[in-house]
Parts: sequence; C-alpha cells; structure tokens
Amino acid sequence: MSKPLIVFGATSFVGQILCRYLHELNQDGSLNWLMAARSEEKLKKLQQELSGPHQPQYRLADAANETQLKALCEEADVVISTVGPYALYGEPLIKACVESGTDYCDLTGETQWIRRMIERYESQAQESGSRIVHCCGFDSIPSDLGVWYLQQQSQKELDAPCQHVKMRVRKFKGGFSGGTVASMMNVAKEAAADPALRRELQDPYSLCPPDNKPAVRQHKITAARDDDVDSWIAPFVMEGINTRVVHRSNALLGYPWGQDFLYDEAVMTGGDAKGQSRAKRTARGQTLMMLGFALPPLRWLMGRFLPKPGEGPSPEMQRTGFFDLVFVGHTAGGKTIRTFVYGERDPGYGATARMLGQAALCLSRDIDRDKVAGGFWTPASALGNHLIQRLEQHAGMRFSTDPVSAEAPQS
Ligand SMILES: NC(=O)c1ccc[n+]([C@@H]2O[C@H](COP(=O)([O-])OP(=O)(O)OC[C@H]3O[C@@H](n4cnc5c(N)ncnc54)[C@H](OP(=O)(O)O)[C@@H]3O)[C@@H](O)[C@H]2O)c1
Repeated sequence: MSKPLIVFGATSFVGQILCRYLHELNQDGSLNWLMAARSEEKLKKLQQELSGPHQPQYRLADAANETQLKALCEEADVVISTVGPYALYGEPLIKACVESGTDYCDLTGETQWIRRMIERYESQAQESGSRIVHCCGFDSIPSDLGVWYLQQQSQKELDAPCQHVKMRVRKFKGGFSGGTVASMMNVAKEAAADPALRRELQDPYSLCPPDNKPAVRQHKITAARDDDVDSWIAPFVMEGINTRVVHRSNALLGYPWGQDFLYDEAVMTGGDAKGQSRAKRTARGQTLMMLGFALPPLRWLMGRFLPKPGEGPSPEMQRTGFFDLVFVGHTAGGKTIRTFVYGERDPGYGATARMLGQAALCLSRDIDRDKVAGGFWTPASALGNHLIQRLEQHAGMRFSTDPVSAEAPQS
C-alpha cells in the first residue's frame, strides 16, 4: 500500500473542512490518509465525527517538536500543513520534509516566509527530492492556474503568449477565519518593525530567482476605471501574494510568457458612479486595514472584533460562497483574449480546502519525480493541467473561455 497523505493541523478551522472533504472522497476506502495535530482531545472529537468503515487514524505532533515532525515525514507520502501563521510555526516542518525527501503542500500567503524558506532550504530539497508547493488555496491557485490556462488559450488562438495579463474579480462571496487574520496581523507586525521587509513586500518579483531582472515596471493598482472590463476597479486584498506566485511560475517555467511579462489583479466595483465610489471606498478601506494591523493599539482593538484562531465563516456561508474571476490578456502584437475561472463555495475555506486536498493528491498521484524534481515549486509550475482537471472534476471549479454568469459584475 502507498504511503498516506497526512493533514498536519487537522483541527484548525480550514484543516477540519479539509478532513471532512477527504473523508467524503474516501467512501470506497481507496484513499490512504491520516490526521495529525497537537491536541489529542480535538483529534478524537474530529475522528468521532468522521465515522464509518474508513474512519481516519491520527498522529500527535507539535509544530516545534522535531522528533515528532520527523516521524510524520518518514510515514507520509505528502504532508499537508494548515498550521499557521506559517512564519511563526512553519519552519521546523519544512526542515523535516526537506531532510527526509517528503513532499509538502500548504496554504501560506506569507511571501516573506516563503522567500526565507526558499533561501534556506531550496538546495537541500533539490538534493533530497522533496517537492515543496506553497500557496495551494484561494491564494494562489485560481490566479496561478488562471494565468497558466489563459496563456495556453492565447498560444492556441492567437499564436503568441500574452505580455500583459489582468485578473479582475467579477464577483466574490466569502469570509475570513481567525487563522487568516492572525497571519495578516503577523506580516503587518513584522513589516512595521523592519524597513527592509517593507521594501521586500512592495517587490512584485520577491519570489523570483535573484537573476530575474525585468526591464518593465509592474502597475500599482489604485481606484481607477478599466475599459478592458468596462468597470471601476480597486486593489484586491490577495494581489500581494498572487502576483508574486504568478511571476515565480513564469520564472520557474523558463519565461514562456517573456521576461517583460506584466500581471496585476483588482476587484471590479461596477461601471457607474456608484462603482466609482465603491472603488474609492475599497481602496481606502484596505489602506486603513493594513495601517490598523500595523499599529499595536489599533491591532488590539481590531483583534477584539475580528474572528479568533479556530473561528471562521459559518457552514451556510461556506456552502453558498463562490468566486468568479475574469482574466484579460494582451499580446505584444495588440491582440486580446479573455478567459474565466469560477469556483463554488466560500473561496477561503469551502473552496480552499478542496483545492489544497486536490493539490496534494495531484502531487502524489499525477506528477512523476522525473518531470518535477525536488525543490520549491508553485501550483502552476508543478501541477499545471493535471490540477486543472482535478479541480474541475472534484472541486467545483471551472476554467473556460466563457463566463459562468453573464450578469453585470458587482464585487
Ligand atoms: N491560502 C488561503 O486561501 C488560505 C485560506 C484559509 C486559511 N489560510 C491559512 O491557513 C492557516 C490556517 O488557518 P485557520 O483559519 O484554519 O487557522 P486556525 O483555525 O487558527 O488554526 C491554526 C492551527 O494551528 C495549530 N497550531 C498552532 N500552534 C501549533 C503547534 N505548536 N503545534 C501544532 N499545531 C499548532 C492550532 O492547533 P489547535 O487546533 O490545537 O489549536 C490550529 O489547529 C493560516 O495560516 C491561514 O492564513 C490560507
């Protein structure tokens, strides 16, 4: 029997959704998987809920206990981690995976931590054969695979890659969990204390190899009109991670979209005057939120009203949430192409848990080591079309050249 997938952080808010999803997928017992976390009491409770003939087993492990992490890695085919903020708890597990040659997927969106892990462990991962794939949730699978899909369509229909791609959020319904809030607060806290990190967070190429030297400047999105989508637009809260991952994919794939490839993301707020004020409000709101996270008294105050670790969107919100994205690409020759990515369920939780589970299954079952060797990969560069196929078949997502809904966009 093959080695199991192990979900470390099984008792986290998103980890529990993932475990329920894997249990549902495993009705025939063909999926070998285990849960792991630090609290036996919480694991037992979750195990009882996942009843039936294929009830999952569990292992105990603390994120700081190297012996326990090593044992998990030796037993696992792929370790999936939802223990975050990753910048606080994630490094010992990365170290254990690269030392043992074990594959790994996670949900981090913390660019500064990813860069540190690449610097510290990439050569060891290449030697041991451990394949590390960060950002396997809403950030950044829809963006990374969305660009990958658009560029394939562009090559097919326009016979050239797009030199500039824009992702615009047409519609979006979802919420935040305490773990996501804690991760965002931790980045803001680290950045407030470190000017070099503040500069790094502004760099769209911060996850690219050091020899990446583009001759173009990325666009900084503000509240503005975008004629390509006939709408006002505002900054998108996930662009800080998604743009970095997309540029890293281009670099790891050998620059198939050009060294001067441009990518930006924004939220559509509507084409009329109301859309214009919504765009301005959204842009102001995001600046204020980041400022609030960075300043200790405001952080404390916001922390009282935002979800705490372990809390998140209700089951109803997880079920009824969705996301609807359009990608607009322009070739260097002035031709345009549009593609769409749609996903059922709350993007950060219901949809993210399925994306993470399918990314790990894809890495384990579909991707041979002679095609993708040890190292730090992105979802598109490691998993590409295999993952698109899985997401369409098992995760309620659609990648297409037609929009899922033709209605006028409202974010
Ligand atoms: N990319 C995306 O789209 C996306 C979406 C959702 C979440 N996320 C990220 O995923 C992570 C989890 O989010 P969440 O809302 O599920 O968080 P959460 O509910 O706060 O869970 C955090 C988990 O970390 C565990 N933990 C903390 N310290 C530990 C230690 N020393 N040893 C072992 N486990 C430890 C906690 O264990 P206990 O259960 O024992 O307390 C808990 O299960 C966050 O970093 C968040 O930013 C990303």
